[in-house]
Amino acid sequence: MTERFLSLPANEHIVVAEGLHHDFGSDELPMPVLFDVWFHLEPGEIVIMTGPSGSGKTTLLTLIGALRSVQRGSLSVLGRQLRGLDEQGRVEIRRRLGFIFQAHNLFESLTALQNVTLALELHGESRHEIDRRAKAMLGAVGLGDRMGHKPEALSGGQRQRVAVARALAHRPGLILADEPTAALDAQTGRQVIELLQELAHEQKTSTLLVTHDNRILDVADRIVNMVDGRIVSDIRVGESLEICEFLAKVPAFASHSPGGLTEIAEHMRRRTFGPDEVIFREGETGHGFFIIRSGSVRILDDPEGHELAVLEPGQFFGEVALMTGRPRNATAVAVDHTELLFLAKEAFQQALDREKSFRDQLLQVFTVRHS
Ligand SMILES: Nc1ncnc2c1ncn2[C@@H]1O[C@H](COP(=O)(O)OP(=O)(O)O)[C@@H](O)[C@H]1O
Ligand SMILES: [Mg+2]
Repeated sequence: MTERFLSLPANEHIVVAEGLHHDFGSDELPMPVLFDVWFHLEPGEIVIMTGPSGSGKTTLLTLIGALRSVQRGSLSVLGRQLRGLDEQGRVEIRRRLGFIFQAHNLFESLTALQNVTLALELHGESRHEIDRRAKAMLGAVGLGDRMGHKPEALSGGQRQRVAVARALAHRPGLILADEPTAALDAQTGRQVIELLQELAHEQKTSTLLVTHDNRILDVADRIVNMVDGRIVSDIRVGESLEICEFLAKVPAFASHSPGGLTEIAEHMRRRTFGPDEVIFREGETGHGFFIIRSGSVRILDDPEGHELAVLEPGQFFGEVALMTGRPRNATAVAVDHTELLFLAKEAFQQALDREKSFRDQLLQVFTVRHS
C-alpha cells in the first residue's frame, strides 16, 4: 500500500497514516480499536468515511485531529508527525484544523457571529479583519440575516451552518467532520453538506467527512469504508460509484452489502465491443465474468453457430467456466456496440467467497441454463 503515497513528497500530503493502531482500556486489559490503518488524504480532496457504528471512525478522526495521542504507527497531519508530539504541539495542529461535530457544539450564550468570531480570535488577526471574515462566512452559509441570533433561536440546519462557517472561517488546512448531518433531516443534511463541499472547494481545503448517510456519498472524491477497526476499501468515486449504482440494480448483486458492492465495483473494468465482435470463443480458457451495461450479446453454440440466447443490459455471462474450471462452453458475440463490465477471475472468486447470496444466485441461473 505504501506505493500509493509516492505520488507526492511526504510533506505535501494532508494526512498520512501508516500502520496506525489504537487501544482503549488499560495496559492490563487493552481493547484494540484500530488495527494497522493505512490512510492518506491529498490536498483539496473530499474523502467520506463510512462504516458500522463502533468500527473506529471517530477514534481515527480524533487521532487525526490531534485530540488524542498516537500510540503505535505513524500519523502525520499537515506535514507534522503527531506521534510523540506533546500537548503544546497538538494545540498548534488543532488551530490549523476545522472541526464539525454531530452535535453542533456552539456556545449557547453567544450569537452566531460571536461563535464564529471566537474561532478566529486565536489567529492573531486584527479586530476589524476578524469581524469582516466572520460576517463574510456567515453570509456564505446563507445566514447574513441571522448573525445576531443565539443558537436556541436557530433551526438545526441553521445551527449546523453556523458550525460550518466557524470551522472554515480561519481557512483551515483540513476539515474534520464527524456525522455532521446526523441530527438533520435528509434535505437539510444534504444542503449543509453541499455548502461544506462548495466552500471546501473554493478554499481548496481537504475534508474528511464521517457519515452514515448514503445519500451524500456523491460529494466525495473518495469513499473509505471502515469495518472493525480496519479500512476494508478505499475507492475513487466516479467510475466505481457509477458501477456500484448499476450493480445495485442487477438482481444477482442486489442483496450485496454496500461494502461488498464497492469492493466488487473497485475491481470491475469497462470493456467495449463493436458489432459482431467476438468476446470469447468456445474452448478458450475463462479469465473473467461479464455483465452487460449497454447493447446486447449473442451466446452461440459453436461450431454449428446455433443461437442459444441473446442477453440484454443487466444480464451476465461467462460465469460457467469460472465455476467449473472447464473451458468456455459457448461463444459470446456483441450484437451491436456493446459496453460490458468485466470482473477478472480472482476478483470473481473473492466475490463468491464473500457473499453467499451471490453464489446462490449464480447457481440458480447455472442450473436453469443447463437443464
Ligand atoms: N473513550 C473511549 N474509551 C473506551 N472505549 C472507547 C472510547 N471511545 C470509543 N471506544 C470504543 O471504541 C470502539 C470504536 O468507537 P468509535 O471510534 O467511536 O466508533 P465509530 O465512530 O465508528 O462509531 C467502540 O467499541 C467504542 O465503544
Ligand atoms: Mg463515531
